Amino acid sequence: MKRPIAYIAGTGYAVPRRAVTNDDLAKNGLDTNDAWIRDRTGIGQRYVSDPDETLTHLSAAASRIAMADAGVSAGEIDVIVLGTATPDHLLPATAVEVQAALGAGRAMAFDLGAACSGWLYSAQVAEGLIATGMAKTVLVIGAEVLSTIVDWTDRNTCVLFGDGAGATIIRSVKTLPKGDTRERGILSSYGRSDGNLYDLLWRPAGGVAEPFSDKVYEERRQYVRMEGREVFKHAVRSMADATDRALDMAKLTPADIDLVIPHQANMRIIEATAKHAGIDMSRFFVNVERFGNTSAASIPIALADARSQGLVPEGTLVLFAAFGAGFTWGSLIVRF
Ligand code: COA
Repeated sequence: MKRPIAYIAGTGYAVPRRAVTNDDLAKNGLDTNDAWIRDRTGIGQRYVSDPDETLTHLSAAASRIAMADAGVSAGEIDVIVLGTATPDHLLPATAVEVQAALGAGRAMAFDLGAACSGWLYSAQVAEGLIATGMAKTVLVIGAEVLSTIVDWTDRNTCVLFGDGAGATIIRSVKTLPKGDTRERGILSSYGRSDGNLYDLLWRPAGGVAEPFSDKVYEERRQYVRMEGREVFKHAVRSMADATDRALDMAKLTPADIDLVIPHQANMRIIEATAKHAGIDMSRFFVNVERFGNTSAASIPIALADARSQGLVPEGTLVLFAAFGAGFTWGSLIVRF
């Protein structure tokens, strides 16, 4: 097993004030019902931002909790990486607004686009920056305000997603307290993409190739579109690849893993992943019922949620696995 270079020193999450249940969606005129959504996805509610709850606002709120948890001040942050598909502005990156909100004046800040794999890829970038000696302390955020890009008249997609932010402080292992010799940190790290699958889950218009226009609004092409069944198939396949590869690279077996924190897209995908990996569902952390699929925010929210429930004591070996639009997928094994 490789010696860890970086470890997760603090976590936090923030969600909007307003929870919207499945029944609320049906009451508001969407042709759906609680039983269908729960049965197909495991989702019971999701959080939806009001206009003042911007990506910057949610990200900064989650970051302050993670910084306090890690005992890190704003001035100690070398880099901020924000995984998101829903930046506050098209230019500049939202990460710089988060930097300003936190007063992290020394940091280099940028966004990373990898859809639902956004936090996982960002954590891998953080590990790389730490390995080269360029950074000691990295604030890694996954955050989304997906409610602004889903089509609330499309029952195939809108019921799945939610808003929120999760933040983690990733630090060089050299900062471990004196006398603490336990090896903890990122033990393996795997990532892949397949751009041939880009239009299985995408926002056709609003970018440079197809700018906003009356036609775009008429055809609602500014909103997320998804081939649900195809995405499901590829999701199961990529989660299986991600879990296998992370275990191989860390020279571990499924029996070694204490807890799996998967991307919280859908209960059925998580169950298929458990079956493939040969890891009992009791070792999977699942909170999709309360948050829906918050894309890049889902894993860091789940991690902070699991830690607040006391499920990640020191020494816990956690496998993270993510997949998302692109297609993108990957995994991390971390000892806490
Ligand atoms: N409420 C009620 N009925 C709905 C519905 C909703 N919210 N959404 C779709 N339906 C209907 C469909 O219109 C269809 O009706 P029809 O048979 O009369 O045409 C029926 O339910 C079955 O639709 P289908 O799309 O075949 O359902 P499914 O079993 O494939 O489940 C998903 C749909 C989206 C739950 C499933 O494909 C899935 O989980 N895909 C992966 C999505 C995902 O995780 N995306 C994020 C990736 S990061």
